[in-house]
Amino acid sequence: MLKVKRLTICGSEKTRYIDEAPYFGFALESDKKDNKLNKAIITIDNQVIETNEQIHIPYNDELKPLTKYVVNLKAKDINGEEAELSKEFFTGKLNEPWLGKWISDASYIFKEAGSPKVMTFVKRLKLEELPKEALICITALGIYKLFVNNKPVSEDYFTPGFTTYKDQLQYQIYDISKLLNGDDEIKVVVAGGWAVGDFTYGHKNRITANRQALKAEIHLIDEIGKIIPTDESWKVTTDGPFKYADFYDGEVYDATSREVNWHQASIEKVKTEPKKLIATYGEVVNLHEVLKPIEIKQAPSGEYIYDFGQNFAGIVKLKIKKAVEGQKIVVHHAEVLYKDELCLKLLRRAKATLEYTCLEGAQEYLPSFTYMGFRYVGISGINPEDIEVEAHAIYSNVEEIGSFSCSDERLNKLQENIRWSAKSNFVEIPTDCPQRDERMGWTGDIGLFASTATYNFDMDVFLRKWLKDLRSEQIRGGGFPNSVPSQSHGFPLTMPNMAIDFWGDCCIFVPYALYMHSGDKKVLEENYEMMKRYNKACLWWANFLSFGKNRYIWKGIGMFHFGDWVAPDTEKMSEWQARHKWTATASLANTSKMLADIASILGKKEDQEKYLKLYKKVSDAYESKLTDGKGLIKGKEFQTAYVLPLAFNMFKEETTPLAVNNLVKLIEKNNYGVGTGFPGTPFILFALADNNREDVAFKMLFNDNCPSWLYEVKVGGTTTWERWDALKADGTLNFAEEDGTGGMVSFNHYALGAVGDFMYRRILGIEPLEGGYKTFQVKPLLSCGLEHAEGKTRSAYGDISVSWTNKDNKFEINIDVPFGTECQLILPNGEKEILRSGKHYVSQ
Ligand code: BGC
Repeated sequence: MLKVKRLTICGSEKTRYIDEAPYFGFALESDKKDNKLNKAIITIDNQVIETNEQIHIPYNDELKPLTKYVVNLKAKDINGEEAELSKEFFTGKLNEPWLGKWISDASYIFKEAGSPKVMTFVKRLKLEELPKEALICITALGIYKLFVNNKPVSEDYFTPGFTTYKDQLQYQIYDISKLLNGDDEIKVVVAGGWAVGDFTYGHKNRITANRQALKAEIHLIDEIGKIIPTDESWKVTTDGPFKYADFYDGEVYDATSREVNWHQASIEKVKTEPKKLIATYGEVVNLHEVLKPIEIKQAPSGEYIYDFGQNFAGIVKLKIKKAVEGQKIVVHHAEVLYKDELCLKLLRRAKATLEYTCLEGAQEYLPSFTYMGFRYVGISGINPEDIEVEAHAIYSNVEEIGSFSCSDERLNKLQENIRWSAKSNFVEIPTDCPQRDERMGWTGDIGLFASTATYNFDMDVFLRKWLKDLRSEQIRGGGFPNSVPSQSHGFPLTMPNMAIDFWGDCCIFVPYALYMHSGDKKVLEENYEMMKRYNKACLWWANFLSFGKNRYIWKGIGMFHFGDWVAPDTEKMSEWQARHKWTATASLANTSKMLADIASILGKKEDQEKYLKLYKKVSDAYESKLTDGKGLIKGKEFQTAYVLPLAFNMFKEETTPLAVNNLVKLIEKNNYGVGTGFPGTPFILFALADNNREDVAFKMLFNDNCPSWLYEVKVGGTTTWERWDALKADGTLNFAEEDGTGGMVSFNHYALGAVGDFMYRRILGIEPLEGGYKTFQVKPLLSCGLEHAEGKTRSAYGDISVSWTNKDNKFEINIDVPFGTECQLILPNGEKEILRSGKHYVSQ
């Protein structure tokens, strides 16, 4: 039987309001082997699309605003069987002008450091007749929560979301029909968020607006149709129970306070008017897993420490059983303990504190406008018998679509840790860490982690939203601010021609990873110009003041680089940065090669040749100028200097094995410990395993001495860390006081967890050979020594599952090959078998 497994609209199965031209995709399932699509017919309204594609089927007809559309898919396979599925979507305002004006509180002048007072807006609605349908279109500069008659309208957090506000701001549409009774109060509470509040470790505020502003329209949909916009008839106050709200510092909430001092809202001229308001096109942030404390104990300070057993991004819910009016409860958050107390020092200037003033009796409190990165909370002001505390993980709704497990529990834990760090850092945008005063969209981190992310999660909607911001923020010369949305964050905005190796490379890494997973060429097309401009900027810097082959060495004269960021074999930040000549030149070669591949996918022959030539020139320069020509790095060797050119195939065929030997020697000298920073880490195991040294790759992976991935697991890590030695081998915490980073140590960073990519590709063995896994390879490396591994990832065509065992000289493998795809299975003896769609069992 043929079945439609998934039908997506704009890359998502969720029913949404959309403002951009829709496109469709679908996955099929059948019990027949070697099945394929014959033809599909998609009907929307009056348009009929006939196709034999399953990915990115565009809809080009006109759409009406705020309208429901039903998409009907009928698919027929080559055996003549048919399947059908319908799904609806709604349009947003499309290009309809907004009647809602920006409103604010003109009497509130916000000048201080930190975040602004919380603003509350209300509008009383008196309706003679209830409309058939009532929708609210709403956005803010700041972050808001919407209530109708004091009931929250949604469970969404941090709406309207985080984007490059100057260009695009999301708005949401909620159906409030069922909440209205004819005499209603619409209330919107708006905190500072990213637009007005404190953001970046530079602690800037008022970046987009000087104070919060709200824009909304209530659409009463019946025969006549009426729109109630935000205007001066709304009331506003800054006096209410929310006394303070800030991402880094937390929330101060006084439940005994009421909203008072209501006055007329004013029309606001916002500092930065977003060019476009677009109905939510990213993944909204919601609460997810609920965690209960595994231990409660009293610290010497008297605070009760609750241990949730897991480091993550989230908030706590206080379920207070008994309290007296005015009783104040204080909650601190931390990732680790230090001398039996919460270690707050690593939060740097983030206070990560909740202060809650109680009403009399039983009550609950859940913060609205903040989140923290933590495993432990310290609570004072109430005894444990009077309160129950649970924690809620918070992150954008990225769906888990992959899994990996094997016969070594330590790797399973590493996989779990990688996923927790990923989820903790997918909060509206891809962030670096969720706890200290950063939580910024550092470009390098997501660039290096993108491939691992796409194996584990459906990243399409989430990352395409971020790529729109990346395109917006590309600077004149082709580079990027080092975090996006930059919110005017410092360097390199000051330098119009700035480009930073590996951090800027995200403009190629991210779309490429998305394309390989989704097969949607559109993601390459819409980012292609951005990639080319970036590559040009990198080449410009390499060429700068240089002659001959030196023109292809990206030296970084007068430039800023991160180099071999957090490499554990050197002590200081300046030493990581001093390695930029190697990292930057390898980056230029690699992005040129990736651009050549992308040009070829897009059918741009000339570009393909041009970038391939550049890749060869840069590779040759690396070998001629930075090595002795016989595979030895000139000057002081370090792992990354070998790893990058090896992983990117930059050395000549005859020098490659020599360079591999030199890398292996370095690794042996380091007792199989990792010596790479951010740029080298995702590639080191590939550089070895794909160059005939699987033995060394697996020795490194299974090593559990510091620095290594399994060291973090061995000493109890529940996430992946920013620094290999965040907890030092002698059991003391690394406070990074002397290394020039200003105490930069987080226990929840995903960048170094990019080893997850290797686990999927080389242990499980699943690797796409074509975008969307139309054809893919399964080639487990049995030299890993494991008895068993299993897992899956969801491709555009459906789930690819692999489960293998290698015991008593017998190899057995089960593979699910999705409908319409082809798998090349490489058996342990090197033989190749072609498996077409269906379930397969093979042994040897
Ligand atoms: C962040 C990183 C980031 C780096 C830039 C740090 O403070 O946490 O993950 O990539 O700065 O070098």
